[in-house]
Amino acid sequence: MTSPRRIATIVAGLLHAACAACGSSGTSAPGPIETGDAGTQALPIFTDEERALLATLSPVSATELPPPPPDVSNAHADDPRAAALGQKLFFDPGFSGRLLDGDNDGSTHALGRRGETGKVACAGCHLPEHDFLDARTLGQSISLGSGWGRRRAPSLLDVGQAKLLMWDGRHDALYNQPFGPLESPVEMNSSRLFVAEQLHARYRDELEAIFGAMPPMDDHARFPVVSADVTGCSPAGVDTKVACDGALHGMPLDHAEFDALSPADQDAVTRVVVDFGKSIAAYERKLTCGAGRFDAFVHGKPDALSASEQRGAALFLRNGCATCHSGAFFSDQRFHDVGLAPKLVAVTFLDADDEGASAGLVAALADPLSTKGKFSDGDDGRLSVASSSAGSLRGAFRTPTLRCVSRRPTFMHTGQIDALEDVVSFFARGGDPAGFLGKNELHALALGADEQRDLLAFLRALDGPGAAVSLRAP
Ligand code: HEC
Ligand code: HEC
Repeated sequence: MTSPRRIATIVAGLLHAACAACGSSGTSAPGPIETGDAGTQALPIFTDEERALLATLSPVSATELPPPPPDVSNAHADDPRAAALGQKLFFDPGFSGRLLDGDNDGSTHALGRRGETGKVACAGCHLPEHDFLDARTLGQSISLGSGWGRRRAPSLLDVGQAKLLMWDGRHDALYNQPFGPLESPVEMNSSRLFVAEQLHARYRDELEAIFGAMPPMDDHARFPVVSADVTGCSPAGVDTKVACDGALHGMPLDHAEFDALSPADQDAVTRVVVDFGKSIAAYERKLTCGAGRFDAFVHGKPDALSASEQRGAALFLRNGCATCHSGAFFSDQRFHDVGLAPKLVAVTFLDADDEGASAGLVAALADPLSTKGKFSDGDDGRLSVASSSAGSLRGAFRTPTLRCVSRRPTFMHTGQIDALEDVVSFFARGGDPAGFLGKNELHALALGADEQRDLLAFLRALDGPGAAVSLRAP
Protein backbone atom coordinates (compact mmCIF):
# COMPACT_ATOMS: atom_id res chain seq x y z
CA MET A 1 0.00 0.00 0.00
CA THR A 2 2.98 2.29 0.03
CA SER A 3 4.66 4.07 -2.80
CA PRO A 4 7.76 2.50 -4.31
CA ARG A 5 10.99 3.58 -2.72
CA ARG A 6 12.61 6.40 -4.54
CA ILE A 7 16.26 5.97 -5.18
CA ALA A 8 16.73 9.11 -7.16
CA THR A 9 19.58 11.44 -6.44
CA ILE A 10 18.24 14.72 -5.14
CA VAL A 11 20.83 17.44 -5.25
CA ALA A 12 20.61 20.18 -2.63
CA GLY A 13 19.29 23.71 -2.99
CA LEU A 14 15.98 23.20 -4.78
CA LEU A 15 14.10 26.03 -6.36
CA HIS A 16 16.13 29.00 -5.37
CA ALA A 17 18.87 28.66 -7.92
CA ALA A 18 18.52 30.39 -11.25
CA CYS A 19 16.43 28.44 -13.71
CA ALA A 20 17.27 28.83 -17.34
CA ALA A 21 14.18 27.05 -18.64
CA CYS A 22 11.59 28.64 -16.40
CA GLY A 23 10.70 32.11 -17.55
CA SER A 24 11.05 31.32 -21.20
CA SER A 25 9.13 28.11 -21.68
CA GLY A 26 5.86 29.35 -20.19
CA THR A 27 3.00 27.14 -21.17
CA SER A 28 4.42 26.68 -24.65
CA ALA A 29 1.74 28.03 -26.89
CA PRO A 30 2.32 26.25 -30.18
CA GLY A 31 4.39 28.50 -32.43
CA PRO A 32 3.61 29.18 -36.05
CA ILE A 33 3.67 25.96 -38.01
CA GLU A 34 7.15 25.43 -39.39
CA THR A 35 6.70 24.76 -43.03
CA GLY A 36 10.28 23.75 -43.62
CA ASP A 37 9.40 24.18 -47.25
CA ALA A 38 12.34 26.41 -48.03
CA GLY A 39 10.68 27.19 -51.30
CA THR A 40 9.62 23.66 -52.13
CA GLN A 41 6.04 22.49 -52.18
CA ALA A 42 7.08 18.98 -53.21
CA LEU A 43 4.56 16.43 -51.99
CA PRO A 44 5.61 12.95 -50.94
CA ILE A 45 4.29 10.01 -52.89
CA PHE A 46 2.87 7.42 -50.53
CA THR A 47 2.99 3.77 -51.58
CA ASP A 48 -0.13 1.63 -51.09
CA GLU A 49 1.52 0.05 -48.10
CA GLU A 50 2.21 3.46 -46.58
CA ARG A 51 -1.38 4.56 -47.19
CA ALA A 52 -2.56 1.45 -45.38
CA LEU A 53 -0.23 2.28 -42.50
CA LEU A 54 -1.54 5.86 -42.37
CA ALA A 55 -5.07 4.47 -42.17
CA THR A 56 -4.10 2.51 -39.02
CA LEU A 57 -3.11 5.84 -37.41
CA SER A 58 -6.57 7.27 -38.04
CA PRO A 59 -8.90 4.29 -38.20
CA VAL A 60 -12.30 5.95 -37.72
CA SER A 61 -13.06 9.16 -39.59
CA ALA A 62 -11.99 12.74 -40.25
CA THR A 63 -13.65 13.88 -37.05
CA GLU A 64 -13.43 10.97 -34.62
CA LEU A 65 -10.88 8.90 -32.74
CA PRO A 66 -11.78 5.45 -31.36
CA PRO A 67 -13.40 5.51 -27.89
CA PRO A 68 -11.54 3.80 -25.02
CA PRO A 69 -11.83 0.00 -25.23
CA PRO A 70 -14.15 -1.59 -22.65
CA ASP A 71 -12.59 -1.92 -19.19
CA VAL A 72 -13.78 -5.17 -17.61
CA SER A 73 -11.96 -4.33 -14.38
CA ASN A 74 -14.43 -1.52 -13.67
CA ALA A 75 -18.17 -2.27 -13.93
CA HIS A 76 -18.82 1.49 -13.79
CA ALA A 77 -16.22 2.50 -16.40
CA ASP A 78 -18.89 3.94 -18.70
CA ASP A 79 -21.49 4.87 -16.09
CA PRO A 80 -22.27 8.59 -16.47
CA ARG A 81 -23.12 8.92 -12.76
CA ALA A 82 -19.68 7.58 -11.85
CA ALA A 83 -18.02 9.95 -14.33
CA ALA A 84 -19.88 12.95 -12.89
CA LEU A 85 -18.82 12.01 -9.37
CA GLY A 86 -15.27 11.28 -10.53
CA GLN A 87 -15.06 14.74 -12.04
CA LYS A 88 -15.83 16.31 -8.65
CA LEU A 89 -13.37 14.05 -6.82
CA PHE A 90 -10.60 14.84 -9.31
CA PHE A 91 -10.73 18.52 -8.39
CA ASP A 92 -11.18 18.07 -4.61
CA PRO A 93 -8.01 18.78 -2.57
CA GLY A 94 -9.72 17.72 0.66
CA PHE A 95 -8.26 14.22 0.62
CA SER A 96 -4.64 15.33 0.99
CA GLY A 97 -2.36 15.53 4.02
CA ARG A 98 0.40 17.95 4.95
CA LEU A 99 2.74 19.64 2.51
CA LEU A 100 6.19 18.53 3.66
CA ASP A 101 8.81 20.14 1.47
CA GLY A 102 10.00 23.67 2.20
CA ASP A 103 9.73 24.47 -1.50
CA ASN A 104 6.01 24.76 -0.80
CA ASP A 105 6.37 28.50 -0.34
CA GLY A 106 2.91 29.72 -1.32
CA SER A 107 4.11 30.83 -4.77
CA THR A 108 2.28 30.01 -8.01
CA HIS A 109 4.65 27.06 -8.49
CA ALA A 110 3.45 25.41 -5.28
CA LEU A 111 0.04 24.27 -4.05
CA GLY A 112 0.38 25.99 -0.69
CA ARG A 113 2.80 26.45 2.18
CA ARG A 114 4.75 23.80 4.00
CA GLY A 115 2.71 22.35 6.86
CA GLU A 116 -0.72 23.09 5.34
CA THR A 117 -3.21 20.28 4.71
CA GLY A 118 -5.94 19.85 2.11
CA LYS A 119 -4.06 21.49 -0.74
CA VAL A 120 -3.31 18.74 -3.28
CA ALA A 121 -5.99 17.59 -5.73
CA CYS A 122 -5.42 15.39 -8.77
CA ALA A 123 -6.00 18.56 -10.78
CA GLY A 124 -3.11 20.23 -8.95
CA CYS A 125 -0.63 18.27 -11.10
CA HIS A 126 -2.94 17.36 -13.99
CA LEU A 127 -4.05 20.88 -14.94
CA PRO A 128 -7.25 20.80 -16.96
CA GLU A 129 -6.39 23.92 -18.96
CA HIS A 130 -3.07 22.31 -19.93
CA ASP A 131 -4.29 18.97 -21.27
CA PHE A 132 -4.16 17.54 -17.74
CA LEU A 133 -0.39 17.75 -17.33
CA ASP A 134 1.75 19.73 -14.88
CA ALA A 135 2.52 23.17 -16.29
CA ARG A 136 2.57 24.63 -12.76
CA THR A 137 5.68 23.31 -11.02
CA LEU A 138 8.88 25.28 -11.55
CA GLY A 139 10.71 23.85 -14.55
CA GLN A 140 7.53 22.12 -15.83
CA SER A 141 9.19 18.73 -15.62
CA ILE A 142 8.89 16.75 -12.34
CA SER A 143 6.05 17.74 -9.99
CA LEU A 144 6.00 19.38 -6.58
CA GLY A 145 3.11 18.02 -4.48
CA SER A 146 3.72 17.50 -0.78
CA GLY A 147 7.30 16.92 -1.90
CA TRP A 148 9.09 16.37 -5.19
CA GLY A 149 8.20 13.39 -7.36
CA ARG A 150 10.58 11.63 -9.61
CA ARG A 151 8.94 11.67 -13.02
CA ARG A 152 6.94 14.01 -15.24
CA ALA A 153 3.14 14.01 -14.96
CA PRO A 154 1.90 12.81 -18.33
CA SER A 155 -1.12 14.38 -20.02
CA LEU A 156 -4.26 12.41 -19.16
CA LEU A 157 -5.78 12.93 -22.61
CA ASP A 158 -6.62 9.47 -23.99
CA VAL A 159 -5.38 7.73 -20.85
CA GLY A 160 -8.41 5.43 -21.19
CA GLN A 161 -6.60 3.74 -24.10
CA ALA A 162 -3.89 2.31 -21.84
CA LYS A 163 -4.16 -0.81 -19.74
CA LEU A 164 -0.76 -0.70 -18.10
CA LEU A 165 -0.36 2.80 -16.74
CA MET A 166 2.47 5.09 -15.67
CA TRP A 167 5.81 5.53 -17.41
CA ASP A 168 6.89 2.19 -15.93
CA GLY A 169 3.62 0.19 -16.00
CA ARG A 170 3.27 -0.16 -12.24
CA HIS A 171 -0.53 0.17 -12.22
CA ASP A 172 -2.73 -2.06 -14.36
CA ALA A 173 -6.03 -0.18 -14.07
CA LEU A 174 -7.33 3.34 -13.74
CA TYR A 175 -9.27 2.33 -10.61
CA ASN A 176 -6.16 1.31 -8.63
CA GLN A 177 -3.85 4.09 -9.90
CA PRO A 178 -5.16 6.77 -7.44
CA PHE A 179 -3.78 4.77 -4.48
CA GLY A 180 -0.34 5.83 -5.77
CA PRO A 181 -0.73 9.63 -5.42
CA LEU A 182 -3.05 9.39 -2.38
CA GLU A 183 -0.58 7.35 -0.33
CA SER A 184 2.68 8.75 -1.64
CA PRO A 185 4.28 11.05 0.93
CA VAL A 186 5.58 13.28 -1.85
CA GLU A 187 2.25 13.62 -3.70
CA MET A 188 -0.94 13.81 -1.59
CA ASN A 189 0.64 12.43 1.61
CA SER A 190 -2.65 10.95 2.77
CA SER A 191 -3.96 7.60 3.98
CA ARG A 192 -6.76 5.43 2.70
CA LEU A 193 -8.59 5.48 6.05
CA PHE A 194 -8.66 9.28 5.97
CA VAL A 195 -9.83 9.24 2.36
CA ALA A 196 -12.60 6.72 3.14
CA GLU A 197 -13.79 8.82 6.09
CA GLN A 198 -13.83 11.97 3.96
CA LEU A 199 -15.80 10.16 1.26
CA HIS A 200 -18.32 8.94 3.82
CA ALA A 201 -18.71 12.39 5.33
CA ARG A 202 -18.95 14.33 2.08
CA TYR A 203 -19.95 12.05 -0.82
CA ARG A 204 -21.95 9.28 0.82
CA ASP A 205 -25.23 9.72 -1.09
CA GLU A 206 -23.59 9.89 -4.48
CA LEU A 207 -21.32 6.91 -3.80
CA GLU A 208 -24.14 4.77 -2.41
CA ALA A 209 -26.37 5.54 -5.40
CA ILE A 210 -23.71 4.02 -7.65
CA PHE A 211 -21.87 1.40 -5.60
CA GLY A 212 -24.37 0.42 -2.87
CA ALA A 213 -24.18 0.78 0.91
CA MET A 214 -20.94 2.12 2.37
CA PRO A 215 -19.44 0.63 5.53
CA PRO A 216 -20.33 2.67 8.67
CA MET A 217 -17.27 4.88 8.60
CA ASP A 218 -18.87 6.96 11.34
CA ASP A 219 -18.83 4.00 13.75
CA HIS A 220 -15.70 5.16 15.49
CA ALA A 221 -15.36 2.07 17.63
CA ARG A 222 -14.58 0.26 14.36
CA PHE A 223 -13.02 3.09 12.38
CA PRO A 224 -11.07 5.50 14.59
CA VAL A 225 -11.25 9.13 13.49
CA VAL A 226 -8.11 10.17 11.67
CA SER A 227 -6.97 13.62 10.63
CA ALA A 228 -5.29 14.80 7.48
CA ASP A 229 -2.08 14.64 9.46
CA VAL A 230 -2.41 10.89 9.76
CA THR A 231 1.08 10.09 8.53
CA GLY A 232 2.36 11.61 11.76
CA CYS A 233 5.00 13.48 9.88
CA SER A 234 4.63 17.13 10.65
CA PRO A 235 7.43 19.45 9.59
CA ALA A 236 7.01 21.47 12.76
CA GLY A 237 7.59 18.55 15.10
CA VAL A 238 11.19 17.94 16.09
CA ASP A 239 10.48 14.35 17.11
CA THR A 240 9.13 13.46 13.73
CA LYS A 241 12.01 14.96 11.78
CA VAL A 242 13.43 11.57 10.86
CA ALA A 243 10.08 10.37 9.56
CA CYS A 244 9.65 13.55 7.52
CA ASP A 245 13.09 13.29 5.95
CA GLY A 246 12.33 9.70 5.07
CA ALA A 247 9.00 10.70 3.59
CA LEU A 248 10.59 13.31 1.38
CA HIS A 249 12.79 10.64 -0.05
CA GLY A 250 9.76 8.48 -0.69
CA MET A 251 10.23 6.09 2.23
CA PRO A 252 6.92 4.46 3.07
CA LEU A 253 5.32 5.92 6.19
CA ASP A 254 3.67 3.95 8.91
CA HIS A 255 -0.08 3.75 8.40
CA ALA A 256 -0.56 2.22 11.84
CA GLU A 257 -4.16 3.35 12.16
CA PHE A 258 -5.08 1.30 9.07
CA ASP A 259 -3.01 -1.71 10.06
CA ALA A 260 -4.83 -1.84 13.42
CA LEU A 261 -8.21 -2.53 11.72
CA SER A 262 -9.49 -6.09 11.35
CA PRO A 263 -8.73 -7.64 7.94
CA ALA A 264 -12.43 -7.37 7.01
CA ASP A 265 -12.53 -3.68 7.92
CA GLN A 266 -9.28 -3.07 6.05
CA ASP A 267 -10.93 -4.53 2.95
CA ALA A 268 -14.03 -2.42 3.55
CA VAL A 269 -11.93 0.76 3.69
CA THR A 270 -9.93 -0.26 0.64
CA ARG A 271 -13.14 -0.92 -1.27
CA VAL A 272 -14.39 2.61 -0.54
CA VAL A 273 -11.20 4.03 -2.02
CA VAL A 274 -11.44 1.60 -4.95
CA ASP A 275 -14.91 3.05 -5.65
CA PHE A 276 -13.31 6.52 -5.56
CA GLY A 277 -10.87 5.14 -8.17
CA LYS A 278 -13.64 3.63 -10.29
CA SER A 279 -15.45 6.98 -10.36
CA ILE A 280 -12.33 8.91 -11.30
CA ALA A 281 -11.60 6.27 -13.96
CA ALA A 282 -15.03 6.82 -15.54
CA TYR A 283 -14.24 10.53 -15.73
CA GLU A 284 -10.72 10.03 -17.09
CA ARG A 285 -12.05 7.83 -19.89
CA LYS A 286 -13.84 10.88 -21.30
CA LEU A 287 -10.66 12.92 -21.71
CA THR A 288 -9.37 12.90 -25.27
CA CYS A 289 -7.22 14.98 -27.57
CA GLY A 290 -9.78 14.49 -30.31
CA ALA A 291 -9.36 14.28 -34.07
CA GLY A 292 -7.46 17.01 -35.90
CA ARG A 293 -6.03 17.97 -39.26
CA PHE A 294 -4.12 14.70 -39.60
CA ASP A 295 -7.39 12.75 -39.49
CA ALA A 296 -8.93 15.02 -42.10
CA PHE A 297 -5.88 14.36 -44.30
CA VAL A 298 -6.16 10.58 -43.97
CA HIS A 299 -9.89 10.69 -44.68
CA GLY A 300 -9.87 12.37 -48.04
CA LYS A 301 -8.79 15.99 -47.45
CA PRO A 302 -5.25 16.17 -48.84
CA ASP A 303 -5.11 19.94 -48.24
CA ALA A 304 -5.53 19.50 -44.50
CA LEU A 305 -1.75 19.08 -44.19
CA SER A 306 0.86 21.39 -45.70
CA ALA A 307 3.47 19.96 -48.04
CA SER A 308 6.00 20.00 -45.22
CA GLU A 309 3.62 18.19 -42.86
CA GLN A 310 2.90 15.58 -45.50
CA ARG A 311 6.61 14.99 -46.05
CA GLY A 312 6.91 14.73 -42.26
CA ALA A 313 4.22 12.02 -42.27
CA ALA A 314 6.19 10.08 -44.87
CA LEU A 315 9.38 10.45 -42.84
CA PHE A 316 7.53 9.28 -39.72
CA LEU A 317 6.59 6.05 -41.51
CA ARG A 318 9.90 5.58 -43.31
CA ASN A 319 12.07 6.04 -40.24
CA GLY A 320 10.37 3.48 -38.03
CA CYS A 321 8.64 5.95 -35.69
CA ALA A 322 5.34 4.15 -36.26
CA THR A 323 6.72 0.82 -35.09
CA CYS A 324 6.48 2.13 -31.51
CA HIS A 325 4.16 5.10 -32.04
CA SER A 326 1.50 2.91 -33.66
CA GLY A 327 -2.30 2.88 -33.78
CA ALA A 328 -4.82 5.69 -33.47
CA PHE A 329 -3.03 7.19 -30.47
CA PHE A 330 0.51 6.76 -31.76
CA SER A 331 1.49 4.36 -28.97
CA ASP A 332 1.93 0.59 -28.92
CA GLN A 333 1.30 0.90 -25.13
CA ARG A 334 4.52 -1.06 -24.61
CA PHE A 335 7.84 -0.27 -22.99
CA HIS A 336 11.02 0.63 -24.84
CA ASP A 337 14.54 1.78 -24.08
CA VAL A 338 15.37 4.75 -26.28
CA GLY A 339 18.83 5.40 -24.82
CA LEU A 340 17.92 8.54 -22.91
CA ALA A 341 20.56 9.85 -20.50
CA PRO A 342 19.47 11.51 -17.26
CA LYS A 343 19.55 15.32 -17.27
CA LEU A 344 19.12 17.96 -14.60
CA VAL A 345 15.49 19.03 -14.37
CA ALA A 346 13.59 21.41 -12.04
CA VAL A 347 16.94 23.11 -11.46
CA THR A 348 18.61 20.48 -9.32
CA PHE A 349 17.09 17.03 -9.78
CA LEU A 350 19.08 14.32 -11.55
CA ASP A 351 17.59 10.86 -11.68
CA ALA A 352 20.60 8.69 -12.32
CA ASP A 353 19.20 5.23 -11.87
CA ASP A 354 15.57 4.83 -12.95
CA GLU A 355 15.06 1.16 -13.75
CA GLY A 356 11.77 1.90 -15.53
CA ALA A 357 9.48 -0.95 -16.54
CA SER A 358 11.65 -3.77 -15.17
CA ALA A 359 10.78 -2.55 -11.67
CA GLY A 360 7.33 -1.15 -12.54
CA LEU A 361 5.94 -4.37 -13.98
CA VAL A 362 7.18 -6.38 -11.00
CA ALA A 363 5.29 -3.92 -8.78
CA ALA A 364 2.13 -4.29 -10.92
CA LEU A 365 2.31 -8.09 -10.62
CA ALA A 366 2.71 -7.91 -6.84
CA ASP A 367 -0.08 -5.33 -6.29
CA PRO A 368 -2.98 -6.76 -4.24
CA LEU A 369 -5.21 -4.12 -5.90
CA SER A 370 -4.46 -5.39 -9.43
CA THR A 371 -6.98 -6.68 -11.97
CA LYS A 372 -6.17 -10.20 -10.73
CA GLY A 373 -7.25 -9.34 -7.18
CA LYS A 374 -10.58 -9.18 -5.37
CA PHE A 375 -11.17 -5.46 -5.96
CA SER A 376 -11.35 -5.87 -9.74
CA ASP A 377 -14.66 -6.45 -11.53
CA GLY A 378 -13.01 -8.63 -14.17
CA ASP A 379 -9.67 -9.84 -15.52
CA ASP A 380 -8.92 -9.60 -19.23
CA GLY A 381 -5.40 -10.97 -18.84
CA ARG A 382 -3.71 -7.58 -19.28
CA LEU A 383 -1.05 -8.47 -16.71
CA SER A 384 0.22 -11.37 -18.82
CA VAL A 385 2.24 -8.81 -20.82
CA ALA A 386 3.88 -7.85 -17.55
CA SER A 387 4.67 -11.42 -16.50
CA SER A 388 6.28 -12.23 -19.82
CA SER A 389 8.51 -9.15 -19.94
CA ALA A 390 9.07 -7.94 -16.36
CA GLY A 391 12.73 -8.02 -15.50
CA SER A 392 13.94 -7.68 -19.09
CA LEU A 393 12.89 -4.06 -19.48
CA ARG A 394 15.60 -2.22 -17.60
CA GLY A 395 15.61 1.45 -18.60
CA ALA A 396 12.43 1.02 -20.70
CA PHE A 397 9.45 3.40 -20.44
CA ARG A 398 5.96 3.37 -21.91
CA THR A 399 5.65 4.79 -25.40
CA PRO A 400 3.77 8.09 -24.93
CA THR A 401 0.86 8.98 -27.19
CA LEU A 402 1.74 11.68 -29.72
CA ARG A 403 -1.80 13.06 -30.02
CA CYS A 404 -1.66 16.69 -28.83
CA VAL A 405 2.09 16.30 -28.24
CA SER A 406 3.10 19.83 -29.28
CA ARG A 407 1.35 21.46 -26.32
CA ARG A 408 3.51 19.69 -23.72
CA PRO A 409 6.01 22.02 -22.03
CA THR A 410 8.64 19.28 -21.66
CA PHE A 411 9.11 15.78 -23.01
CA MET A 412 10.28 12.31 -21.92
CA HIS A 413 9.75 10.67 -18.51
CA THR A 414 11.48 13.28 -16.38
CA GLY A 415 11.02 16.15 -18.83
CA GLN A 416 14.68 15.85 -19.87
CA ILE A 417 13.97 17.60 -23.19
CA ASP A 418 12.16 20.91 -23.29
CA ALA A 419 11.60 21.58 -26.99
CA LEU A 420 9.91 19.34 -29.54
CA GLU A 421 12.61 20.08 -32.12
CA ASP A 422 15.16 18.69 -29.68
CA VAL A 423 13.11 15.49 -29.35
CA VAL A 424 13.26 15.14 -33.13
CA SER A 425 17.03 15.62 -33.20
CA PHE A 426 17.34 13.16 -30.28
CA PHE A 427 15.63 10.46 -32.38
CA ALA A 428 17.57 11.51 -35.49
CA ARG A 429 20.89 10.86 -33.76
CA GLY A 430 19.62 7.55 -32.36
CA GLY A 431 19.55 8.54 -28.70
CA ASP A 432 22.30 9.50 -26.31
CA PRO A 433 25.74 7.91 -26.58
CA ALA A 434 25.83 6.70 -22.96
CA GLY A 435 24.61 7.33 -19.43
CA PHE A 436 21.34 5.36 -19.54
CA LEU A 437 20.40 1.94 -18.14
CA GLY A 438 19.66 -1.05 -20.35
CA LYS A 439 20.12 -1.39 -24.08
CA ASN A 440 19.14 1.36 -26.52
CA GLU A 441 16.71 0.11 -29.18
CA LEU A 442 17.27 3.09 -31.50
CA HIS A 443 19.83 3.63 -34.24
CA ALA A 444 20.90 6.86 -35.91
CA LEU A 445 18.75 8.03 -38.84
CA ALA A 446 19.88 9.84 -41.96
CA LEU A 447 17.78 12.96 -41.50
CA GLY A 448 19.01 16.35 -42.68
CA ALA A 449 17.93 19.66 -41.19
CA ASP A 450 15.05 20.08 -43.67
CA GLU A 451 13.78 16.60 -43.01
CA GLN A 452 13.89 17.18 -39.27
CA ARG A 453 11.85 20.35 -39.79
CA ASP A 454 9.28 18.37 -41.78
CA LEU A 455 9.05 15.74 -39.06
CA LEU A 456 8.56 18.48 -36.47
CA ALA A 457 5.82 20.08 -38.59
CA PHE A 458 4.08 16.69 -38.78
CA LEU A 459 4.23 16.20 -34.99
CA ARG A 460 2.69 19.64 -34.53
CA ALA A 461 -0.11 18.67 -36.90
CA LEU A 462 -1.21 15.98 -34.44
CA ASP A 463 -3.01 18.55 -32.31
CA GLY A 464 -6.72 18.24 -31.62
CA PRO A 465 -9.33 20.26 -29.76
CA GLY A 466 -8.49 18.65 -26.37
CA ALA A 467 -10.93 17.77 -23.60
CA ALA A 468 -14.42 19.25 -23.77
CA VAL A 469 -14.72 22.48 -21.76
CA SER A 470 -17.42 20.88 -19.60
CA LEU A 471 -14.81 18.38 -18.37
CA ARG A 472 -12.27 21.01 -17.34
CA ALA A 473 -13.81 22.14 -14.06
CA PRO A 474 -15.47 20.41 -11.09
C1 HEC B 1 2.08 15.71 -7.15
C2 HEC B 1 1.60 15.61 -8.51
C3 HEC B 1 0.52 14.62 -8.84
C4 HEC B 1 -0.70 14.47 -8.23
C5 HEC B 1 -1.26 15.19 -7.04
C6 HEC B 1 -1.38 13.43 -8.98
N1 HEC B 1 -0.60 13.00 -10.02
FE1 HEC B 1 -1.13 11.66 -11.42
N2 HEC B 1 0.76 11.61 -12.08
C7 HEC B 1 1.79 12.40 -11.63
C8 HEC B 1 3.04 11.91 -12.14
C9 HEC B 1 4.40 12.51 -11.86
C10 HEC B 1 2.74 10.78 -12.92
C11 HEC B 1 3.73 9.88 -13.64
C12 HEC B 1 4.45 9.04 -12.59
C13 HEC B 1 5.15 7.83 -13.14
O1 HEC B 1 4.84 7.37 -14.23
O2 HEC B 1 6.00 7.31 -12.42
C14 HEC B 1 1.30 10.63 -12.87
C15 HEC B 1 0.59 9.64 -13.56
C16 HEC B 1 -0.78 9.53 -13.55
C17 HEC B 1 -1.55 8.64 -14.37
C18 HEC B 1 -1.00 7.67 -15.40
C19 HEC B 1 -1.00 8.30 -16.77
C20 HEC B 1 -0.41 7.40 -17.81
O3 HEC B 1 -0.43 7.79 -18.98
O4 HEC B 1 0.06 6.33 -17.47
C21 HEC B 1 -2.86 8.81 -14.05
C22 HEC B 1 -4.05 8.09 -14.65
C23 HEC B 1 -2.91 9.80 -13.02
N3 HEC B 1 -1.64 10.24 -12.74
C24 HEC B 1 -4.07 10.22 -12.38
C25 HEC B 1 -4.04 10.92 -11.17
C26 HEC B 1 -5.17 11.00 -10.26
C27 HEC B 1 -6.52 10.37 -10.50
C28 HEC B 1 -4.76 11.75 -9.21
C29 HEC B 1 -5.53 12.10 -7.95
C30 HEC B 1 -6.04 10.98 -7.19
C31 HEC B 1 -3.38 12.14 -9.48
N4 HEC B 1 -2.98 11.59 -10.66
C32 HEC B 1 -2.64 12.96 -8.65
C33 HEC B 1 1.66 13.49 -10.79
C34 HEC B 1 0.58 13.68 -9.94
C1 HEC C 1 11.75 1.89 -30.01
C2 HEC C 1 10.48 2.57 -29.90
C3 HEC C 1 10.41 4.00 -30.38
C4 HEC C 1 10.73 4.51 -31.61
C5 HEC C 1 11.29 3.76 -32.81
C6 HEC C 1 10.43 5.91 -31.57
N1 HEC C 1 9.94 6.27 -30.34
FE1 HEC C 1 9.37 8.11 -29.75
N2 HEC C 1 9.29 7.46 -27.85
C7 HEC C 1 9.42 6.16 -27.44
C8 HEC C 1 9.46 6.11 -25.99
C9 HEC C 1 9.57 4.86 -25.14
C10 HEC C 1 9.40 7.44 -25.54
C11 HEC C 1 9.50 7.91 -24.08
C12 HEC C 1 10.93 7.72 -23.63
C13 HEC C 1 11.24 8.09 -22.21
O1 HEC C 1 10.66 9.03 -21.66
O2 HEC C 1 12.13 7.44 -21.63
C14 HEC C 1 9.25 8.27 -26.74
C15 HEC C 1 9.08 9.65 -26.74
C16 HEC C 1 8.79 10.39 -27.87
C17 HEC C 1 8.38 11.78 -27.86
C18 HEC C 1 8.12 12.62 -26.62
C19 HEC C 1 6.70 12.50 -26.14
C20 HEC C 1 6.53 12.92 -24.71
O3 HEC C 1 5.41 13.22 -24.30
O4 HEC C 1 7.52 12.93 -23.96
C21 HEC C 1 8.22 12.16 -29.17
C22 HEC C 1 7.79 13.52 -29.68
C23 HEC C 1 8.58 11.02 -29.98
N3 HEC C 1 8.88 9.97 -29.16
C24 HEC C 1 8.62 11.02 -31.37
C25 HEC C 1 9.23 10.02 -32.11
C26 HEC C 1 9.61 10.13 -33.49
C27 HEC C 1 9.40 11.36 -34.36
C28 HEC C 1 10.20 8.95 -33.84
C29 HEC C 1 10.86 8.58 -35.16
C30 HEC C 1 11.94 9.44 -35.59
C31 HEC C 1 10.17 8.10 -32.67
N4 HEC C 1 9.58 8.78 -31.64
C32 HEC C 1 10.62 6.79 -32.63
C33 HEC C 1 9.51 5.06 -28.26
C34 HEC C 1 9.93 5.13 -29.58
